[in-house]
Amino acid sequence: MNVISIFIPKGGVGKTTLTLMLATAIAELGKSVLMIDNEPQADASLCISDAAQNDTIDMYYTRELKRESYQAVIQHSDEFGIDYIPASAGLVNVEQDLKHNNGVLRDILGKLPYRYDYIIIDNSPFVSNLVINSLVASDYVIIPTQPSYMSACKIRNVLGLVDRIRQKLNPQLQVLGVVINMMEWRTIFGRSMVSSIKKSYHDVYVFKSMIPNSIRVAEATYLHRKLPKNKRTVKISNAFTLLAKEVLKLG
Ligand SMILES: Nc1ncnc2c1ncn2[C@@H]1O[C@H](COP(=O)(O)OP(=O)(O)OP(=O)(O)O)[C@@H](O)[C@H]1O
Ligand SMILES: [Mg+2]
Repeated sequence: MNVISIFIPKGGVGKTTLTLMLATAIAELGKSVLMIDNEPQADASLCISDAAQNDTIDMYYTRELKRESYQAVIQHSDEFGIDYIPASAGLVNVEQDLKHNNGVLRDILGKLPYRYDYIIIDNSPFVSNLVINSLVASDYVIIPTQPSYMSACKIRNVLGLVDRIRQKLNPQLQVLGVVINMMEWRTIFGRSMVSSIKKSYHDVYVFKSMIPNSIRVAEATYLHRKLPKNKRTVKISNAFTLLAKEVLKLG
């Protein structure tokens, strides 16, 4: 199993969107994919469905912390073609209990009933015990950023955090790369930010596929649908497919 955390300590740059769209695009390439919503806002779960969710990740954390025996019941989305473990707002209550327990998510993954080709984990926009659990359970981190100064600066925070986790908790953890989301090729500023990111983080891979800024993303989320394949969505939909192919090649 390749376990990938999506993380940057910056809000609203597209972590959740990338988690769901990348998971879907990898599944479309014929791989088995589990998406885990490791985020108290539960946005990834909401993108899949606004119905109340059962068998949430909060339940698994709680059972694991109490050392109760359980069998994970995994949800499936026909629309997105992926399995998923949703979150609820109750996940916020788990945060404190994880203070001295950074391997809980790793133990949960160890008990899954099925071995997936890829597990993609969505995370909060700040460093928390839930995020540490995600990084300890992962082989790779993908760092999404907007082509903006404030977002790009936070890439360094992830690199520092990954170094610390690698030294103390998970020596296998690697940064797979930086994904530029909401790319605006038309603006000089957008293009110059891409050069600046490549220059500032020259030892980190920047995915060739950059995700364009497109209202189609918000539309799909609102409808709880994956991106349709039509003339209007071809550009953004292809960007996710190319990104998925790059991920498959690297990890
Ligand atoms: N490529 C894109 N083009 C246009 N809009 C996008 C794109 N990616 C994400 N968005 C929109 O930007 C907003 C923020 O995206 P998203 O919720 O995925 O970010 P996030 O990093 O997960 O936020 P948070 O830090 O709150 O978890 C959403 O309204 C989403 O629809
Ligand atoms: Mg999010």
